[in-house]
Amino acid sequence: MHRLFHVMIAAAAAIGAALWIGLPAAQAASIGGSFELIDHTGKTVTEESFDDRYLLVYFGYAYCPDVCPTELLIMGQAVDELGELGEEVQPLFVTVDPVRDTVEYLADYVPSFHPRLVGLTGSDEQIHAAARAYRVYYRLNEPDEDGNYLVDHTSYIYFMDPDGDYLTHFVFGQGPEKMAEIIRKHLD
Ligand code: NI
Repeated sequence: MHRLFHVMIAAAAAIGAALWIGLPAAQAASIGGSFELIDHTGKTVTEESFDDRYLLVYFGYAYCPDVCPTELLIMGQAVDELGELGEEVQPLFVTVDPVRDTVEYLADYVPSFHPRLVGLTGSDEQIHAAARAYRVYYRLNEPDEDGNYLVDHTSYIYFMDPDGDYLTHFVFGQGPEKMAEIIRKHLD
């Protein structure tokens, strides 16, 4: 069911994406922007904290049973696939579930996907502002009797240039080789 939600959201967003193609670049460029969040070491960071690297930005949550771990794995594999060029790319995971995805929880979670993956959390307001900047939709479902809950959310990986401008995005199901190929074109 969770997977289905992801797919439905991705499909709805893909229609939106198709509509942008005919739009002036200025409108697509309005995806992204400044954010202030807390990384998995407890440090406050902004979009300018990553040494002028390109950013790969994915919003999701660590308790996600399927799509998020898959996407994070693919993102890490794409960075590795780039070899030395991968050093110019900073992968970021922004949680949409900051209550459960604390600094400590993310510190345990992110290294299993890539040694340079940075996990980002923050207050509800900080997460909300970052999600709004990236036009990410998310919604927490009702908890079950054990207090567990799923979160519906947009599952795009955004690729941003070192100035924080939107370059492109990747949809669920795109493999790491294809992702690396597209990134390489932008880096050349
Ligand atoms: Ni997910």
